[in-house]
Amino acid sequence: MKNKVVVTGGLGYIGSHTVVALLENGYEPIIIDNLENSSLEVINGIFKITGIKPSLHIIDCKVYIELETVIKNIEGICGIIHFAAYKSVNESIEKSYAYYENNILSLINVIKIADKYAIENIVFSSSCTVYGNPLEQPVTENMPFGEITNPYGKSKMMCEEILKDFYISSAKHKVISLRYFNPIGAHTTGLIGELPNGIPNNLLPYITKVASGKLAKLKVFGNDYNTKDGTCMRDFIHVCDLADAHISALNYANSKENKNYDVFNIGTGIPTSVLELITTFEKVNNIKIDYEFTKRRAGDIESIYAKTDKAAETLSWKSKRNISQSLKDAWNWELKNNKHD
Ligand SMILES: NC(=O)c1ccc[n+]([C@@H]2O[C@H](COP(=O)([O-])OP(=O)(O)OC[C@H]3O[C@@H](n4cnc5c(N)ncnc54)[C@H](O)[C@@H]3O)[C@@H](O)[C@H]2O)c1
Repeated sequence: MKNKVVVTGGLGYIGSHTVVALLENGYEPIIIDNLENSSLEVINGIFKITGIKPSLHIIDCKVYIELETVIKNIEGICGIIHFAAYKSVNESIEKSYAYYENNILSLINVIKIADKYAIENIVFSSSCTVYGNPLEQPVTENMPFGEITNPYGKSKMMCEEILKDFYISSAKHKVISLRYFNPIGAHTTGLIGELPNGIPNNLLPYITKVASGKLAKLKVFGNDYNTKDGTCMRDFIHVCDLADAHISALNYANSKENKNYDVFNIGTGIPTSVLELITTFEKVNNIKIDYEFTKRRAGDIESIYAKTDKAAETLSWKSKRNISQSLKDAWNWELKNNKHD
């Protein structure tokens, strides 16, 4: 059986946890990364967890010839999981063309490679940002794309459209877009986790940096939303649960005879407020977070959480870890990785 899986962005936050899950499930990952938002040390973390050092190619997915040079020499590839992209909503507003260039061009090159070398399965990292500011909660996969106000979210929506068109024209590809909600946490060993460059954009790495004294204070953007405590609500999912969803998606794609395109929400289905996340972090890790409420941040939506029935029924996947576990793992990762700051 073919068991090799190309993982673009495989040294990144979600990619590295997925590489571990692939190794634990009998797949052979081949990592492609250009180190733009990751470090070579990640491979050592993967090795310490699994006892295996997967093959690694430091190349740029934007450059087709670099991808082809690697792929053409490898036999037995059953799929590509495409993580490589830029991911900051705020940065995408300032650097829109760079976001479109990296996120769209890389995807097109991945599709071209999959087509030319008959790699049947493609799993794509999409995002719940494609729902925009949803009118109904929880969001279901058959809701139309929302009004998306930032180039990052638009790039994900465009990539989904490109993949859908590719599937229509393709003879045999099985293509899956996974719409992630808000990944948090780290591997329980503390050997891999999120390594944001500079000041973190995401909430939990910010919380852990405040907890460890590397950042002074956490700003909570808005406490006047129409939610139970006035702060925004999100669907926070443990990164290892998210990684497992890729295995389920690959297994599902592998089990299909004919070409196929499908989209799945990958979340817990449980809304948690920003304030709840902070207070739970304080409780489970027994540490105080210095925070203050400030005015709302442009572009933030009030609330979003997933309906997860489709992934449960079709992929036989469900999240297993709760918020407390995620927050303990994130803090353990921070404590073990002071040297990165
Ligand atoms: N983290 C989130 O909150 C979140 C939420 C929804 C969707 N996503 C999507 O999931 C995917 C992975 O996110 P992440 O949090 O692991 O991000 P990350 O930045 O940690 O990982 C992305 C990896 O891709 C690499 N990369 C970027 N452009 C590349 C290129 N052109 N060629 C080769 N490598 C390249 C980076 O060096 C990095 O290692 C992204 O597509 C992101 O948009 C992330």
